[in-house]
Amino acid sequence: MPTFRIAPSILSADFARLGEEVRNVIAAGADWIHFDVMDNHYVPNLTFGPMVCQALRPHAVTPDGQRVPIDVHLMVQPVDALAQAFARSGADLVSFHPDASTHVDRTLQLIKAEGCQAGLVFNPASPIDVLEWVIDKVDLVLVMSVNPGFGGQSFIDSALRKVERLRKVIDASGRDIRLEVDGGIKADNIRRVADAGADTFVAGSAIFGQKDYKAVIDAMRQQLAG
Ligand code: DX5
Ligand code: ZN
Repeated sequence: MPTFRIAPSILSADFARLGEEVRNVIAAGADWIHFDVMDNHYVPNLTFGPMVCQALRPHAVTPDGQRVPIDVHLMVQPVDALAQAFARSGADLVSFHPDASTHVDRTLQLIKAEGCQAGLVFNPASPIDVLEWVIDKVDLVLVMSVNPGFGGQSFIDSALRKVERLRKVIDASGRDIRLEVDGGIKADNIRRVADAGADTFVAGSAIFGQKDYKAVIDAMRQQLAG
């Protein structure tokens, strides 16, 4: 049984109380904190920059003070400078869309050189063949099950086939690569996504849209344990 991780996206959190929201969702059982970074260029929306990551870094801890990974998802173009800035602002993982970088291998190297784990993000219509040529530099693959830019969208089913295919590629590589899915994840579909081969799950509106974060995360874990 893989180690499943729940990564709430703060995109759907209360932006007026982000520090408190991060602490609360970790206390409710979150494994990672997912940062959806949007630049109003690569995607038609604008969120936050490295300074917010720096501000939230001290809050991304468990109640007994353990560091909780900040999982930065860059929906930005160009990528390199912001990837480096987030790595220096407390990010533990930095993922980017390969079509947003002119030199994907160099961007991966640059993230790793900062001591950060590196990930590639694939949009619903994106092919995955770029992974074959850089898999030795990848720690995380993120499959978009919605078109990037907004929370609260519906899950795109074709993402399940992409997860199945990526699970085979990752297993064949023998490398320790996490397979994360982002967009439209709820307690009532997370099991299907896990069965397709995912081990890490981003959920924004499903968690922050409810009063009781723990109840939602517990329900997701129950589905995953089933
Ligand atoms: C899209 C974002 C969203 C977010 C999750 O660019 O990446 O997918 O993380 O949003 P929900 O869980 O509300 O679909
Ligand atoms: Zn995301």
